[in-house]
Amino acid sequence: MSEKSLAARPEIDVRGLHKSFGANEVLKGIDLEINQGEVVCVIGPSGSGKSTLLRCVNLLEEPTKGQVFVGGTELTDPDVDIDAVRRRIGMVFQQFNLFPHLTVTENLTLPQRRVLRRDKAQAAKVAAENLERVGLSEKASAYPASLSGGQQQRVAIARALAMGPEVMLFDEPTSALDPELVGDVLAVMRMLARDGMTMMVVTHEMTFAREVADRVVFMDGGVIVEDGTPEQVIGNPRHERTRHFLSRLLDPAMAEVEEETSDQVGGSGA
Ligand SMILES: Nc1ncnc2c1ncn2[C@@H]1O[C@H](COP(=O)(O)OP(=O)(O)OP(=O)(O)O)[C@@H](O)[C@H]1O
Ligand SMILES: [Mg+2]
Repeated sequence: MSEKSLAARPEIDVRGLHKSFGANEVLKGIDLEINQGEVVCVIGPSGSGKSTLLRCVNLLEEPTKGQVFVGGTELTDPDVDIDAVRRRIGMVFQQFNLFPHLTVTENLTLPQRRVLRRDKAQAAKVAAENLERVGLSEKASAYPASLSGGQQQRVAIARALAMGPEVMLFDEPTSALDPELVGDVLAVMRMLARDGMTMMVVTHEMTFAREVADRVVFMDGGVIVEDGTPEQVIGNPRHERTRHFLSRLLDPAMAEVEEETSDQVGGSGA
């Protein structure tokens, strides 16, 4: 169902993006195009600016300089109706942010009714469809506290999908989960990718990135160091910084050995 070949322009287009917090320049000129139906995984060390980039793509953070386009609309245009554009962008965070006093269905219907002005019956219908997509129809009347972390995250994904977004942004959606619950959430994300959703995913799940991503972007120090297929960036990284990050991620103990060795021999890595 992917319509990659039909895309006349990128679905997400980031041009010359800079973001500073006070004197701290966190994003130092990011250029990134993501086509319709593409899945791009963003990897990189803590503090490299991954979340800030994602938050700039739906203007949760205001860029200091540069432009962001989603579906051809410039979000950084001062005259843009930002609420209208945000409706086209779904976001899923590490923390699920469900309302604890509302049932699963109510968590899904509330934003539809408030933001999209859907009536009760239609919102309930869309909620049921999306709960089915994430495999949680039987939890429709449950409260979030009675669900596992993985189930709560799937509800959060269903809540975003119920708004009918054109693109989905994920910021480490599985990082807060116990290992045995990660798989179910990744399976839902795989399904979305197969259905042709345009996705930008900050993640440390390298197996997911290898299998599902069309492209992997490695960020370090507020810039994109490498951007390519998973085979290129994870399988055969060109830059020492990428190699170092990956070796540390895959085997923290080895990375220390490698660091000591490269200090001695002058840095020609594995
Ligand atoms: N609201 C903020 N105010 C001030 N500084 C911020 C703010 N948000 C992020 N930063 C700083 O920007 C830098 C990049 O943060 P960011 O959260 O984007 O990194 P990250 O790559 O997502 O890291 P992690 O892997 O730990 O989530 C950090 O130095 C952080 O302290
Ligand atoms: Mg982050």
